[in-house]
Amino acid sequence: MRGIGSDGAPIAVIADVHGNSDALRAVLADIDAQGIGPILNLGDHFSGPLAAAETAALMAAREMICIRGNHDRWLVEQAPEDMGPSDRVAYEQLQPSHLDWLRGLPATRRVGEAIFVCHGTPTSDTTYWLDRVAPTGEVQFRPRDEIEQAAEGSDAPVLLCGHTHRPRLVRLRDGRIILNPGSVGLPAYDDDHPVFHVMETGTPAASYAVLCKRGGGWDVSFRAVPYDTARMAEMADAAGRADWAQAVATGWFSPDR
Ligand SMILES: [Fe+2]
Repeated sequence: MRGIGSDGAPIAVIADVHGNSDALRAVLADIDAQGIGPILNLGDHFSGPLAAAETAALMAAREMICIRGNHDRWLVEQAPEDMGPSDRVAYEQLQPSHLDWLRGLPATRRVGEAIFVCHGTPTSDTTYWLDRVAPTGEVQFRPRDEIEQAAEGSDAPVLLCGHTHRPRLVRLRDGRIILNPGSVGLPAYDDDHPVFHVMETGTPAASYAVLCKRGGGWDVSFRAVPYDTARMAEMADAAGRADWAQAVATGWFSPDR
């Protein structure tokens, strides 16, 4: 069997499933339909008012190379009473074995010779790498100098990150690429850090990416997989999270869109 990252062997890159088992099921079916073998999963696996335990079961049944995201870390570091509402609902569904599995995940890892994997940036699981939030709350593309600064010290030609839920590909001046595959399970959200802002992809489709080395370069395809969002939106509503229901069903966060 050829190694991960070898020429002509595609890799699926998924991130930010956030307990959305129906979106993950659709993405896995799409990966299978394309005959792709290895799956790299960049974290934030379970957190959210959806189907955390079901997602854990789906993931356990598949071979994946995983790291932990900020929400995975909070699920095992924070006391339940200190958790945010999205982490708390997931925590209540998860078994001790799921939490043990999260505890064992690395924050970053090298996969093969060519690929470096992290959730936010190489040094932070809560920092957006390819985007930034202005003091006004506007989400902007991060300037190239700042993106490259955060890539210093990582010599891998392919750098993978998640966390923003925004599918993006950036090529650095030295030829390295940074790929964010977008989010499998949560296409829109709001956050208070560093100031209040809203992230919206504008589509409910489950997002992931396919990465393949070809000759001297890396071929990247973004996939947007439609699936029936009704059950997940109902679960969010049942948990009192109309914001999540709206986000999962539409890809927009604000109800007036
Ligand atoms: Fe996330």
